[in-house]
Amino acid sequence: MTDLEKELQDALAQVKTALAAVSDMNALEECRVRFLGRKGLMPALMAQLGKVPQDQKPAVGKTVNLVKQEIQQAFDDCGARLNQDQKTASALDVTLPGRQRAIGHKHPINLVMDSAVAIFRRMGFIVADGPDIETVANNFDALNSPQDHPSRTPDDTFYFDLDQHHWLDPEALILRTQTSPVQIRAMKAQKPPVRIICPGRCYRRDTPDATHGMSFHQIEGLYVDQCVSLADLKGTLAAFAREMFGTHTKVRFRPHFFPFTEPSVECDASCIVCGGKGCRVCKGSGWIEIAGAGMVNPAVFQNVGYDPDTTTGFAFGLGIERMAMIRYAINDLRLLYDNDVRFLHQF
Ligand code: PHE
Repeated sequence: MTDLEKELQDALAQVKTALAAVSDMNALEECRVRFLGRKGLMPALMAQLGKVPQDQKPAVGKTVNLVKQEIQQAFDDCGARLNQDQKTASALDVTLPGRQRAIGHKHPINLVMDSAVAIFRRMGFIVADGPDIETVANNFDALNSPQDHPSRTPDDTFYFDLDQHHWLDPEALILRTQTSPVQIRAMKAQKPPVRIICPGRCYRRDTPDATHGMSFHQIEGLYVDQCVSLADLKGTLAAFAREMFGTHTKVRFRPHFFPFTEPSVECDASCIVCGGKGCRVCKGSGWIEIAGAGMVNPAVFQNVGYDPDTTTGFAFGLGIERMAMIRYAINDLRLLYDNDVRFLHQF
């Protein structure tokens, strides 16, 4: 390689390094002047071409052309890069107002659930958990539910695997119809005393209307110890209702039936809208049902391996949607699930 060829290669390297550092059109122009301008490096090198001996001229000329092409290419590339940068930069309009993020908040169902949990925690209950997909054993059998109970049929309950299990098979899987199976899980996992609540979702094959959905929420409560009485249950629910709906709220019990409690009751709270006089919300009765409850049936204690003779306890299942409807005077349960922000916004 002749000295001139070396210098040309060197010039090419210099051009590339210089262009890589170029970040605007002025700098590009400076480079152009420095390398290609009349007093620039390239013309100076070209001038030397005349001094190359005749026999080497074709080879050196070839190198010169190649280097010139490459340098031109490098300048073109650099120009294109700057153009692109400029386009991107102009796409960013710094005068545009920033995008506002709508900050959400808790859903009314969660608001009610959270306050209920907070109230029971202050009373000493701890939160237990269980899966939404339950076995027939936990959801029905261990809770002493008779096999001919209508709620067990696939018309009322969502089953997963009816091609593999009969719906009376304890291993069949369902969407839990109540949070009560968490009672079974909690008692199987520990010895008395047990004092748990379990907020969660339940599923039933109901036709949706103003007061029914195919899924809803409950908060289960269970207190197991020695000498627990119905009075403790009533005191607990009364204290809860006063905290939840206001100090003037009263509760009353009506006899009812649940297979896993004996005796069983339904618990009503005095209507917070009319204070018990009777209005549209309480349908004139002055009372609104908020929970099913009762004293844990000894048969259930037997099923979880507790001594049915010495163990006592109460359980309750509060309806969250129902409490939300009372608390916020909502007249149609479906509003809670439509996810219309104009509605949800209000809470
Ligand atoms: N699990 C019952 C229901 O879904 C409610 C309940 C819970 C009743 C605990 C008694 C004790 O209706």
